[in-house]
Amino acid sequence: MPLWDSAEILQRQWVLAGSLVVSGARVILACRDLEKAGKAAKEIRKASGNGNVVVQKLDLASLQSVRSFANKITETETRLDILINNAGIMRCPKWKTEDGFEMQFGVNHLGHFLLTNLLLDLLKKSAPSRIVTVSSLAHIRGKINFDDINLDNCYDPAVSYEQSKLANVLFTRELAKKLKDTGVTANCLHPGVIQTEIIRHLYPTLSIWLKILLVPISILTFKSVQQGAQTSIYCAVSEELDNVSGLYFSDCAVKATAPQGRDDDAAKRLWELSEKMVGLESEGQRLHVPES
Ligand SMILES: NC(=O)c1ccc[n+]([C@@H]2O[C@H](COP(=O)([O-])OP(=O)(O)OC[C@H]3O[C@@H](n4cnc5c(N)ncnc54)[C@H](OP(=O)(O)O)[C@@H]3O)[C@@H](O)[C@H]2O)c1
Repeated sequence: MPLWDSAEILQRQWVLAGSLVVSGARVILACRDLEKAGKAAKEIRKASGNGNVVVQKLDLASLQSVRSFANKITETETRLDILINNAGIMRCPKWKTEDGFEMQFGVNHLGHFLLTNLLLDLLKKSAPSRIVTVSSLAHIRGKINFDDINLDNCYDPAVSYEQSKLANVLFTRELAKKLKDTGVTANCLHPGVIQTEIIRHLYPTLSIWLKILLVPISILTFKSVQQGAQTSIYCAVSEELDNVSGLYFSDCAVKATAPQGRDDDAAKRLWELSEKMVGLESEGQRLHVPES
């Protein structure tokens, strides 16, 4: 049976994980829903013939969950070659994470920010290694609202998503600088517009006419989940990218970010703010930019 004929793996992250498993990698599925991930892992093992697929609990909306996942990984794994920051939430209502952060910024940026920082020693030990962060073209409308980062006074689901995806781009830019000469690269990407569950919060807010219109549009223009996994796979394993870092990709090629994605001052400021928000600063776990 072709690997992707199973309904259990027809989610983009499973296709992504499955492709790495097929190439012989050991893959850790870091998911909040263990039952769903467990079923996908079973299917991937069966279809690929590679049993090296592990499921671990990770809820990016909880700093404690991120910390306990990272602890487990650093205690049990001897190496980490590729970290893919893929999880995301889009245009949800005004929700908060367990730690009181606005949900989209908290999950899409802060959760991945803390996770990456906590796994950096293992990634460095495993160098050459890669960090791949899934952003979005939506970053082009993004602005980092430094005065009200949780958008407490002006919450808008679209604005929040755009801010979080710009944060992915700026995070990657600053991270790549900090990781210069370590053998660990950091890149980010837009995966394309894909038919996935990412519209789960947006869809109920659409009018019936928009929902009807969406059917032909999605059939004609959206990528399949398999196509939508390609740029992530490219950034994760392509030999062409061995020493390439700090860039933004789309359709398996380097693309320019929006101007605000190249704002080094904003990238630095966001990094410092994120450190404070997740509590890294107070623990002396700060990562410094090397002297050039
Ligand atoms: N689809 C597109 O057109 C598109 C376009 C541009 C960028 N992207 C980006 O692509 C990435 C993946 O999205 P997708 O399109 O594949 O959507 P998806 O099918 O909804 O996948 C998102 C994944 O993120 C997980 N997730 C959400 N909140 C989480 C949390 N608190 N902790 C841990 N995991 C969490 C979800 O877990 P559950 O399964 O438990 O809900 C789900 O597995 C996102 O970063 C998104 O911004 C997507």
